Amino acid sequence: MQNQEPSQTALRVALSRAIESRYPETRRICWDPFAQYFLCGQTRKIYDSWLRRKLFCLRSEKMAPGVIGSVMVRTRFIDDYLAVCIAAGIKQLVILGAGYDTRALRFEALKKEVTVFEVDHPATQQRKTAVLQNRFGDLPEHVVFVAVRFNSESLADKLLTAGYQTDVQTLFIWEGVTYYITVQAVDDTITFVTDYSGQGSSIVFDYFPPSVADGTCHLKEARVLRSLFAQLGEGVTFGIAPESIETYLAAKGFGQIRNYTHQDLQEKYLKNSKQHRRLSELFAIAHATVLAKD
Ligand SMILES: C[S@@+](CC[C@H](N)C(=O)[O-])C[C@H]1O[C@@H](n2cnc3c(N)ncnc32)[C@H](O)[C@@H]1O
Repeated sequence: MQNQEPSQTALRVALSRAIESRYPETRRICWDPFAQYFLCGQTRKIYDSWLRRKLFCLRSEKMAPGVIGSVMVRTRFIDDYLAVCIAAGIKQLVILGAGYDTRALRFEALKKEVTVFEVDHPATQQRKTAVLQNRFGDLPEHVVFVAVRFNSESLADKLLTAGYQTDVQTLFIWEGVTYYITVQAVDDTITFVTDYSGQGSSIVFDYFPPSVADGTCHLKEARVLRSLFAQLGEGVTFGIAPESIETYLAAKGFGQIRNYTHQDLQEKYLKNSKQHRRLSELFAIAHATVLAKD
């Protein structure tokens, strides 16, 4: 992030989730009843008016086909993966670039035995905690808020100082973030996960191909997102080819690597009443488990 303002991309993601959550259960892809609390200004106006919502969805689909669908499926996919990891007994959840992620509120099981570390840029995090305090009076007790600038500060230092434990099973969620940070910051984060987490820990994240960052991608939504994110002060800096993700993660010390393309996600989530929803080819999701060290 180039400026010191709360993330605009996080606000737009919250708007999309808030709108999605108004649809009936049979039609919606994901459900986040808390997303609407974070809306303000124009996003609040869009959310509150049927006509503005309709126009927002139509325009978004025209300008950047499939992007809203992909962002909704990304949230749903990660929710489902989190549920699996909770059942497998994680003790910590680290949400990297948390933005207006509300999983700490939405997943009751997290409140019992899991410490949640929400890591984000200080400007976005300050706004989030102010909204939560305003709405609920207090911050959730099971959440530790850790302010980190990924491109210039040490995730390891900040998390360890905040009470993160290196020897327990942990899930790292990295949703909608890798695009905006430097190659070095992506590398450092991945290395932190393999070097400083307990047995059975894993990571789930989404990513773009490199052609979005370097401007060579021919897809309309790639051009639109690249220029929109740059205008918002959150330019696209990182990408990796889906064909390379397995080799990259294996070299870093991960096993059980699974990669999901837009086709896999379409097949998994968009059947029956949701089959009219489109996904963008740009978005892919991977999850992987840290291999035991000798
Ligand atoms: C598109 S939002 C995604 C938010 C959230 N994960 C979600 O899916 O709703 C990107 C998030 O990355 C954070 N971010 C971007 N660049 C960052 C940086 N250099 N350091 C710390 N956080 C950053 C922003 O503050 C924002 O919360």
